[in-house]
Amino acid sequence: MNADTRSLWCPADPAPDDGRLPADTTCDVCVVGSGMAGLTTAYLLAKEGKRVVVLDAKPHAVTGETERTTAQLTWHADDTFGDLASIRGDDNARQAATDHRAAVDAIERIADAEGIDCDFHRVPAYLVPGADGPKVLDDEDGALKRLGIPYTRTTMAYPGTPPLDALRFDGHARFHPIKYLRGLAAAVRKLGGVVHVETVVEKVRGGDACTVTTTHGLTVTAKAVVVAANNPFEGGTTLHTKVGAYTTYVVTLEVPKGSYEDAIVWDTEDPYQYVRFQPGGPGDPFDVAVVGGADHKTGQAADQADRWRDLEAWTRQRYPDAGAVRHHWSGQVFETADGLALIGPAPWNGPNVYVVTGDSGMGMTHGTIAGQLLPDLIAGRPSAAAALYSPSRVMPGALKTLLAENANLAAQYTDWLTRGDVKSADDIPPGQGAIVRRGLTKLAVSKSAAGEVTTLSAVCPHMGCLVRWNPGEASWDCPCHGSRFDAKGTCLHGPAVSNLAEAE
Ligand SMILES: Cc1cc2nc3c(=O)[nH]c(=O)nc-3n(C[C@H](O)[C@H](O)[C@H](O)COP(=O)(O)OP(=O)(O)OC[C@H]3O[C@@H](n4cnc5c(N)ncnc54)[C@H](O)[C@@H]3O)c2cc1C
Ligand code: FES
Repeated sequence: MNADTRSLWCPADPAPDDGRLPADTTCDVCVVGSGMAGLTTAYLLAKEGKRVVVLDAKPHAVTGETERTTAQLTWHADDTFGDLASIRGDDNARQAATDHRAAVDAIERIADAEGIDCDFHRVPAYLVPGADGPKVLDDEDGALKRLGIPYTRTTMAYPGTPPLDALRFDGHARFHPIKYLRGLAAAVRKLGGVVHVETVVEKVRGGDACTVTTTHGLTVTAKAVVVAANNPFEGGTTLHTKVGAYTTYVVTLEVPKGSYEDAIVWDTEDPYQYVRFQPGGPGDPFDVAVVGGADHKTGQAADQADRWRDLEAWTRQRYPDAGAVRHHWSGQVFETADGLALIGPAPWNGPNVYVVTGDSGMGMTHGTIAGQLLPDLIAGRPSAAAALYSPSRVMPGALKTLLAENANLAAQYTDWLTRGDVKSADDIPPGQGAIVRRGLTKLAVSKSAAGEVTTLSAVCPHMGCLVRWNPGEASWDCPCHGSRFDAKGTCLHGPAVSNLAEAE
C-alpha cells in the first residue's frame, strides 16, 4: 500500500504483542486475527478464564481492515431494515437491531471497565435522501414503523443548504478504533493470553483437539479455534458464494473545531456517501470531517484518484468551509446478501472451529457481536443470536443478489482469454503496474518510482484468478475474492495465504 494512503488512525504506537509464535503450543482457544473481531472475542474469552492464543500474519497487531475503518458505531442496518426484513423476516430484523444496539453498549462498557480512553462518544445518526430521491427514505420510514424500531422523522440541513427530510436514530457512537484495540490487546495479555504477530496460519482442522498450522510449520493445539481473519483463508466455494469483496474509499478534510453537529450522516444512494466528525487532538486547531463511499467490487475499477476527488467534491459542496484534505485511503468490506455477518461454526473446518466474516460495512458492531456470541457457542450456552448469524443459513429471499454476485465472480475468470494491458515493461510508467501476456500465461509487472521493474506471476495463489493493478494503493488486487498483494507480491489481505509467485 502507498505510504500516502495511510489512514487517520495509523498508530504511532502499535498494540502490544508477544512477537512471532516461537514454538508449538497448546491453549483453550486459538483466535486467528487481531482486528476488532479477533481481539474482542479473545478478550471476552479471557475474561471467562480461557487461555487464549491470538495469531496474526502482520508484523503488528490491529493492522488489518480495522486500521482502515471510519469507526462509526452504528446500529442502523447498513442496507436498511426494510431490506433486511424482506430477506430474513421482521423478527430477525428486530433481533439485528437489538444486537447491534447491544454491541455499541458493550464497547462503551468494555472501554469503561478497562479504563481505555478511546474517544468513545455517543452521537445521533441521520439518514437523508441522496440524488436518488425520497423513495428509500419513505420505504425505510414505513419499515421502521412496522418493526417498532425507535427513530424520529425530522429534518437535517448541511450548512447553508435547505433542510432535508431525515430519519434520526439516537444511541449511535464514534470512537478511536486503535486506542480501543490497543487497550483490548493489553487486557488479553494481562488476563494470561498471548498475541503473536508475523505468524501466518494456513490450515485449521477441527476435532476434540483442533490443530492450527502456520506457514512456518508450527502448530497450535486448542479445544476450539476462532478464525477472525476478516476474509477467511479456508471455506472455498461454500464461503465465497456467500461473501463478496468490495473496496470502499475515505477522505478526511479539516473543518473548524466544533463547527458542525457531532453526528453521523449517510444518504440513501447505492453506494451511499457518509460523513462523521473526529475531533483533532490536543493542539490541533481543526476537527476532521471523515467522508466515505464510492464502493466497487474489489479489483474491478482503476479510477481510485477520481473516487477520492468525487468524495472531496461531495464534501466541499455540503461543507463550504472545509479546508485541506488530510488523508485519503481505501480498504475492503465483505458484503453478504442480507447485510448480516456470518458468525458461528465453520462447517468447512470441522468440529469446534468457528468463523466471523462478512462484516457488511458494520465490522465494529459485528466484531463485537462475534465477541459475545462465540464464547456462548464454545461453552455450549444457548444464544438467541446463533441462528441469525449462522454461516450455514439459507436465504431464499436473497437469491437474486446471490446469483448476480456469482455471475460476476464467474466473469472474472475470462481475464485468462484477454490480451495484456500493455505489450512490455517499457510501456509502464514509473510508479505503475500492468498485466503483460507471455504465451499462455500472464505476468504482473510493476515499475518503482526509480524505474526498477518487478515481474511476478499474475495468478492469484488462492483460486487462480488473475490479479489487476490498483493505481491508487499501488497493489495487485484479485477481482474474485479480495486477496491483495503489494507491488513486490507480498500478501496484504486474504483469503490467499501466500505471495504472488516469481515469474517463471
Ligand atoms: C474504509 C472502511 C470504512 C469502514 N467503516 C466502518 C464503520 O464506520 N463502521 C463499522 O462498523 N465498520 C466499518 N468498516 C468495516 C470494519 O472496519 C471492518 O469490518 C473491521 O475492521 C474488520 O475487522 P476484523 O477483525 O474482521 O478484520 P481485520 O481488522 O482485517 O483483522 C483480521 C486480521 O486477521 C489477520 N489474518 C488474516 N489472514 C490471516 C492468516 N492466514 N493468518 C494469520 N492472520 C491472518 C490479518 O492480518 C488481520 O490483522 C469499514 C471498513 C473500511 C475498509
Ligand atoms: S482471491 Fe480467490 S482467486 Fe484470488
